[in-house]
Amino acid sequence: MMKDENSRELFLSALSGGKTPRPPIWVMRQAGRYLPEYRALKEKYGFLGIVKTPEASVEAALQPIRRFGFDCAIVFSDILALSEALGYPYEFADGGGIFLPKAISSPRDIQTLPPADVVRDKLSYVANSIKMLRAELPERAVIGFSAAPWTLAAYMVEGGGSKNGFKNFSNFVEKFPEEFSALMDKISEAIAEYIKMQCECGIDAFQIFDSNASYTPEGKYWKLSGAYVEKVLNGVGKGTKSILYLGDFGGRFSEAADIESDAFSVGPSVRLSEIKKSFAKNAALQGNLDPKLLEESSPAEIVSKARDIMKDMKPFGGHIFNLGGGITPKARLENVEALVNAVKNFGE
Ligand code: CP3
Repeated sequence: MMKDENSRELFLSALSGGKTPRPPIWVMRQAGRYLPEYRALKEKYGFLGIVKTPEASVEAALQPIRRFGFDCAIVFSDILALSEALGYPYEFADGGGIFLPKAISSPRDIQTLPPADVVRDKLSYVANSIKMLRAELPERAVIGFSAAPWTLAAYMVEGGGSKNGFKNFSNFVEKFPEEFSALMDKISEAIAEYIKMQCECGIDAFQIFDSNASYTPEGKYWKLSGAYVEKVLNGVGKGTKSILYLGDFGGRFSEAADIESDAFSVGPSVRLSEIKKSFAKNAALQGNLDPKLLEESSPAEIVSKARDIMKDMKPFGGHIFNLGGGITPKARLENVEALVNAVKNFGE
């Protein structure tokens, strides 16, 4: 595999808010269907088979590194693995999309959720994948992850994705505030335990996906979600650095200002330099090329857009290059290659 001696250092330096010669780069869902070698692996194991077989999970995580030389590998799993560990498994619908055959639907379901420490046993396959991936990649950063409590609760109560805007979940939050906070406390403890386990296996940083942040009513993000993210961060402790993904969050980033995350990862619709002041003084920013451009644009356009983002952040430092959302199955390989080269050649 191509060596990149300084990838890990570069990533950790940018994550600490430092100025780096160029930003480190990885992309969300970098192991995914846009890669022919991933499609072949999935043909053999199925998605859940890849996730639960450490050799296959490590292979998936390594594929995009081998092909493009990203600076970071993200553990190959899914945010819903934790839902499964708590008794609510996930499945794939035939026509695409994801659903939970059984959802949380009563106060009893909340009371009977298992204690947080079950995650160590139920998700030992994730621990094994991380240890193997860490050993394979001494020179690159290894990133672990979990859903944020709000985002995981939304899936577990809704029983599926965002097709109808998490209507059931929104009703539940509004009508049953006590049950909601009991659920969030339990889920937050499980998430903290899960991330602690990942830290012990040698990850360099963890990303908390609050992909459903924008489903909180305006002005309510801190109360309904952010405060629980903060609880998770406190539960994990300060030893390993964190990135909080908020997705497209309109002009609401200041609602997340009290969260003491080392970095914030944001959707494609904002200019990074303009939202920098929304967060704690030296928080790093991650993002935020529009993933759609990788489907629609030419390599030359990708290079130009990527350079705009890097120039915008250069005066500040603390920039980790990524997309504003997950890479899509239709992303073109030549565009991804052009993107990685543009970032790696920046500043030369
Ligand atoms: O980034 C990576 O490469 C690491 C692995 C990873 C996956 N999912 C693999 C995956 C990570 C970090 C996730 C996070 C995740 N999963 C999120 C948060 C990020 C976001 O997109 O907002 C969410 C909401 C999920 C839940 C989930 N899992 C959805 C909505 C889907 C898509 C269903 C579909 O039909 O496309 C998944 C499946 C999934 N997780 C895939 C991958 C590569 C696609 C499965 C496939 O191979 O077909």
